Amino acid sequence: METLLTTDPEVAAAFIRRGGVVAFPTETVYGLGANVFDETAVAKIFEAKQRPADNPLIAHVGHLEQIGELAVEVTDPARKLIDAFFPGPLTVVLRKAERVPLIATAGLETIGIRMPRNDLARRFLAACETPVVAPSANISGRPSPTTWHAVFEDLNGRVDCILQGEATEIGLESTVVDCTGEVPIVLRSGAIGIEEIRTAVAGAEIFSGVMSDAAASPGMRHKHYSPRARVALVDDAAECGREIHAAFIGLDGGGANFDKVEICTSVEEYARRLFAFFRECDAEGIEVIFCQKAVETGIGRALMDRLRRAAED
Ligand code: TXA
Ligand code: MG
Repeated sequence: METLLTTDPEVAAAFIRRGGVVAFPTETVYGLGANVFDETAVAKIFEAKQRPADNPLIAHVGHLEQIGELAVEVTDPARKLIDAFFPGPLTVVLRKAERVPLIATAGLETIGIRMPRNDLARRFLAACETPVVAPSANISGRPSPTTWHAVFEDLNGRVDCILQGEATEIGLESTVVDCTGEVPIVLRSGAIGIEEIRTAVAGAEIFSGVMSDAAASPGMRHKHYSPRARVALVDDAAECGREIHAAFIGLDGGGANFDKVEICTSVEEYARRLFAFFRECDAEGIEVIFCQKAVETGIGRALMDRLRRAAED
């Protein structure tokens, strides 16, 4: 398949309306989209990404009225979170409407819904004239793409179109919150921290393994975010062994031990740079990436979640 590269959201949206698959930027990471109501198109996403069929997709909306096409009911906690954080890096999980095909939700009776705030994403979604389901636009298991170049690396020749935008502003995926019950439960930590979620709904909780399986976020079981290099978490640079072809990313430290170093000035910058750094390390033949641990408040929690998963074998 030939992949068209374009900066024009109208051109990209025309592919969606014709049943194609299109990669597009959001403020979190790039997504790989298709019309949620077109089962054949949605199947192409799973094929292009080599994504396991039991991993549900997030539906992206261009305007709030589209939520009614996707969910049977907007619960009270969902309403509060939508008022506080849409458009933005938050996904609410609600009971799905009948017409949403099960292939999009991996067989679940619920659907994740999010409204990106990125300007190009919004112009693209408006022109699609339908909600667009989109996982991150990487080959499954690889770091999520934060630039269109990273999308190109993984998906050139496998998708119809790549909408070329800027490097993403946040760099980690959205916060996913189960809003089907009275108490919202954070299933995947993301750009919006639990502290912020609780300013909108005081009783919000973080999912823990002891809760019933029904609330579990299925995709979190799969291997994620892995560069080819080995990832090791450290408190500071002094702790790193003298390895050949080693890299370091963190908030302070560095030194001569490393072939590649990135010192970030804030946890937000660390989050924004992480996945791109992983990919650069792979391209440069780095074998070990030492990642400095971060404090688990705000986006630091999501950053540590991604680091731990990347460090798993
Ligand atoms: O920021 C983001 O969320 C990006 C951009 C493209 O919007 N998308 C993204 O999608 O990260 P993906 O497919 O890589 O992650 C979706 C995850 C699933 O693996 C699962 O953990 C959770 O969201 N999820 C989606 N639908 C769900 C549902 N109905 N119930 C529970 N969890 C769900
Ligand atoms: Mg993903």
